[in-house]
Amino acid sequence: MATAKREHWGSTWGFIMAAAGSAIGLGNVWRFPYITGMNGGGAFVLVYLGCILLIGLPVMLAEFAMGRASQSDPIGAFKHFSPGSELISKCFSGVGLVLAALIAAFSHNFGLASIVALVSAAVWKWGFAVAGFFCSLVAMLILSYYAVIGGWILIYSWESFSGGLSFTGTAEAENLFVNIATNGWISTIGMLAYMLICGFVCFFGVKKGVELASKIMMPVLFVLILVLVVRSLTLPGANAGVQFFLAPDFNNLSVKGVLEALGHAFYSLSLGMGILITYGSYLPRDRNIFTSSLFVVLCDTLLAILAGLAIFPAVFAMGMSPEQGPSLLFKVLPCTFNSMPGSLGWLWNGMFFILMSLAALTSGISLLECGVSTLTQHTKLQRRPAVIILTVSISLVALLSAFGAASWKYLMPLKNVMERVLGSVKGSFLDELDYICSNWILPLDGLIIALFVGWVWGASKGAKELYTVRQGKDNYNDAKFLRKVFAQNISVTVWTYFVRFIAPLLVLLTFLFSAGIIKF
Ligand code: PHE
Repeated sequence: MATAKREHWGSTWGFIMAAAGSAIGLGNVWRFPYITGMNGGGAFVLVYLGCILLIGLPVMLAEFAMGRASQSDPIGAFKHFSPGSELISKCFSGVGLVLAALIAAFSHNFGLASIVALVSAAVWKWGFAVAGFFCSLVAMLILSYYAVIGGWILIYSWESFSGGLSFTGTAEAENLFVNIATNGWISTIGMLAYMLICGFVCFFGVKKGVELASKIMMPVLFVLILVLVVRSLTLPGANAGVQFFLAPDFNNLSVKGVLEALGHAFYSLSLGMGILITYGSYLPRDRNIFTSSLFVVLCDTLLAILAGLAIFPAVFAMGMSPEQGPSLLFKVLPCTFNSMPGSLGWLWNGMFFILMSLAALTSGISLLECGVSTLTQHTKLQRRPAVIILTVSISLVALLSAFGAASWKYLMPLKNVMERVLGSVKGSFLDELDYICSNWILPLDGLIIALFVGWVWGASKGAKELYTVRQGKDNYNDAKFLRKVFAQNISVTVWTYFVRFIAPLLVLLTFLFSAGIIKF
């Protein structure tokens, strides 16, 4: 499967920027700040950091190791390590069938039960390659709604510079948001612009497209957020916002909050979707996966915290309400920036939404690239036609989210099908898709990846992939090199325990919680 021609990253820095670009997205700038605010501030941040280190990092290492060792897309990677594991995959499939029967018997959710049964049957037939296929498919599905939200952000960036965001009242803000989000045509224009940019970047390949774009976009993003943090923290009354965001309040932290932190760690690091398998497969063998991963995790977490520090102090200083949840971004923030002293609201808004656009675009690029690598590896298509086909087809699927972001008016037949599978449908199509993907599918995929690497491929083989010895540069007589080997030994040993036991157990717990199977 692995082709000798596989394109590689030009530099470790480029790889780190691309992976951080995938990780840093709407989850950091929008989701993290508000779930932190709602779950005990600093207490939640501490738990989140724990989750990132205990689960996020080990699973990230597992994905990178799988990608690099196989030099393949997600399907190829799972296939690559499967030989000899037919018995294990048949056992998995059997467990899946029993699980399906249990779900049907106890929760009477026949939709979910049939999906589990179908997947188990596919695993019986095709082995673990099904997991890889599932990863790529989910990446495409996520991109189909992420593109709509990304499109709104592009429209907001445009509006901030053309004077469309100059209001200070939340009623006008509400109006504008409703006008954009409920108008399928406007959402479609934004979505198409977003998809075109992602397609354009992937069109030029790994080094000249994804890597180059990330190396430019990510530093700009960090500079923008730093400027906004400084502006926000120097406002009179900013302290209350810092308190709200970071002062630990353990009374406000529930078990639910802990599990939410776990789920968010997955979402934020782009785990469980084969993106990092794909990015790992573009790594040459002499790069140190461990240090690069630590760096990616650090960038992702730092940006999430900086985003909170840019948002909450400003919201508090301007006397706005922070408890808006998801709508904070589109409704409260524009008013907040406009009421800041100096009449530079358009500039702060512009900077904020460009920052968001960059964050959303680099994540979208990684999602598309995951599909491109799968398509080029398993069909005769070359990169460019593959990019065009995927950009067009995902845009077509994204029409469902663009027209179904506010109401089900246009999608009634789909609603009926979803009601049958999910039991009941509460939010809009876009909300439901986001809910299913981030709360069910990502943790489930992550669980599969951790179990696969820990038990099927074998943690010790995975661990070997994490070691780096640079041919010709490192030598065993050098004390510095020996210290490095010692440090690698310890960290890799710790990793094997995490990937085999701790990560799967905790992810399983999150999954059962997210899917509503266990409650607190
Ligand atoms: N990690 C991205 C974020 O924080 C979201 C994302 C999830 C992107 C999955 C790609 C894949 O917003």
